[in-house]
Amino acid sequence: MSIPATTRQISGPAILARGLEKSYKQLRVLRGVDIEVARGSIFALLGSNGAGKTTVVRILSTLLKADAGTARVNGFDVTAQAADVRESISLTGQFAAVDEILTGRENLVLVARLRHLSDPAAVAADLLERFSLTEAGDRRVATYSGGMRRRLDIAMSLIGDPPVIFLDEPTTGLDPEARIEVWRAVEELARGGTTVLLTTQYLEEAEQLADRIAILHEGRIIVDGTLAELKQLLPAAEVRYVEKQPSLEDVFLAVVGRTGEDAQRQGRR
Ligand SMILES: Nc1ncnc2c1ncn2[C@@H]1O[C@H](COP(=O)(O)OP(=O)(O)OP(=O)(O)O)[C@@H](O)[C@H]1O
Ligand SMILES: [Mg+2]
Repeated sequence: MSIPATTRQISGPAILARGLEKSYKQLRVLRGVDIEVARGSIFALLGSNGAGKTTVVRILSTLLKADAGTARVNGFDVTAQAADVRESISLTGQFAAVDEILTGRENLVLVARLRHLSDPAAVAADLLERFSLTEAGDRRVATYSGGMRRRLDIAMSLIGDPPVIFLDEPTTGLDPEARIEVWRAVEELARGGTTVLLTTQYLEEAEQLADRIAILHEGRIIVDGTLAELKQLLPAAEVRYVEKQPSLEDVFLAVVGRTGEDAQRQGRR
């Protein structure tokens, strides 16, 4: 019997892509993309609409074939060892993939069964707890807020402990509170040793979460580094004496406060 890909010891970076190219007819979307993501780190791929972020994620998760270049995920080649790559990853797409009719708990149990885990109920209970969904666990997903759905979606992608997870715009369309909840969930993942590649259009998201940030523009990675390295690309800040104004997000969070379930959860902590 072969050893599952997820438990095989693989050295080197969790994700390594070199010279990825992809065109749709005349449209050259990727023109030589290089990406390297260290194990257990959070890597943010930034870019405007249509920059090619989802295309990169689809290539790395074996859903799409690149025209040129190579990529390895968890040490496996995305074309020659696609099955091993698929066993090593989970992908949370741009739109939540949860079943509305089922409860949160039932969604989790279903996926745990599909992955042949020995105690699906315990796996579901643990993930509900980790993602602050225990109270809502037995309600139909149709009654969940966008943030709760997103958290459930991410929880589902963790079943079976894949070493690498791809999150394509995990917080698009969420309000600031729900976004912060998703951020906390992603941080917890990385603390547990999971490698996370996420795409985002929110600069603040990358700033808050990512160990490394890459900007995809006109088919290439034009900048790649830590936040500190990226900031050094700009001229040193000019010192001015101004009152620090709160950001709109600070104001929103202060006036909205935490209500309902969020308040209960906060109280429990
Ligand atoms: N199957 C396809 N056929 C033709 N063109 C495509 C196809 N998939 C993507 N494209 C084009 O490739 C470009 C990159 O798309 P992609 O979805 O990777 O961008 P993105 O960075 O994820 O954008 P967004 O921020 O809007 O999600 C876009 O111009 C898109 O229209
Ligand atoms: Mg996209």
